[in-house]
Amino acid sequence: MADIRNIVVLTGAGISAESGVPTFRGPDGLWEGHRVEDVATPQAYARDPDLVLDFYDQRRAKLHTVAPNPAHEALGRLDAEWSGELLIVTQNVDDLHERGGAKRLLHMHGELKSGWCLACGDRRPFEGRMAERPACEACGESGKVRPDIVWFGEMPYEMDRIEAALSTCDLFVSIGTSGAVYPAAGFVQTARQFGAETLEMNLDPSEGSFFFHESRMGKAGELVPEWVDRMLS
Ligand code: APR
Repeated sequence: MADIRNIVVLTGAGISAESGVPTFRGPDGLWEGHRVEDVATPQAYARDPDLVLDFYDQRRAKLHTVAPNPAHEALGRLDAEWSGELLIVTQNVDDLHERGGAKRLLHMHGELKSGWCLACGDRRPFEGRMAERPACEACGESGKVRPDIVWFGEMPYEMDRIEAALSTCDLFVSIGTSGAVYPAAGFVQTARQFGAETLEMNLDPSEGSFFFHESRMGKAGELVPEWVDRMLS
């Protein structure tokens, strides 16, 4: 690891599992209780906005009951102390990375605590319940603020910045993601094509496990602090 200077970290729902935020896939996953097409597509929102807004309102409210775990905190420490380039790209819409101290962070699938007004395009921090159809703070229009979440069929945020970081990183690390959803699932191949070392830390082998130089299986709350300690030693 001596030549590592630029790092890209990709995180998924698995990093927040030990904080009590449910993952998507698997026996107790969020998608077990809901059909993706009912709550996480623009079509679902058009068809039944109450159902969709309530789904995200409940997830937003739950954020007040959870806290960052040692994996989030370790990445916060890496961010504070790593003198090279670092970009933490999360697919998660919770705010646990921020609360764990991460600053060089990008939410590629949006954020629960952000609202997007479909009338004027304004995006800003949002607390409370969208199902109550609050007025947009920028344009005053009521009932037009939707979750600032990238739904299936929509384009993830800041892909240019992510691609640029992947093409210049020396190490790509994937934590707690099943590798089921593109484009994030393809980041390992992009990083490898540009010559990066690649490391995965996940509870089970992800769908793209074989693309990584190294896979460590276990809990993020244990594996990530160990890895960060090594990187900073
Ligand atoms: N530590 C590490 N990994 C864990 C832990 C843990 N404590 N608990 C679960 N995992 C792993 C699981 O083994 C699984 O491979 O985390 C992964 C979570 O996978 P998903 O539930 O599919 O979540 P994610 O990969 O983030 O989903 C990607 O899909 O539905 C969309 O937009 C949503 O951003 C999400 C995207």
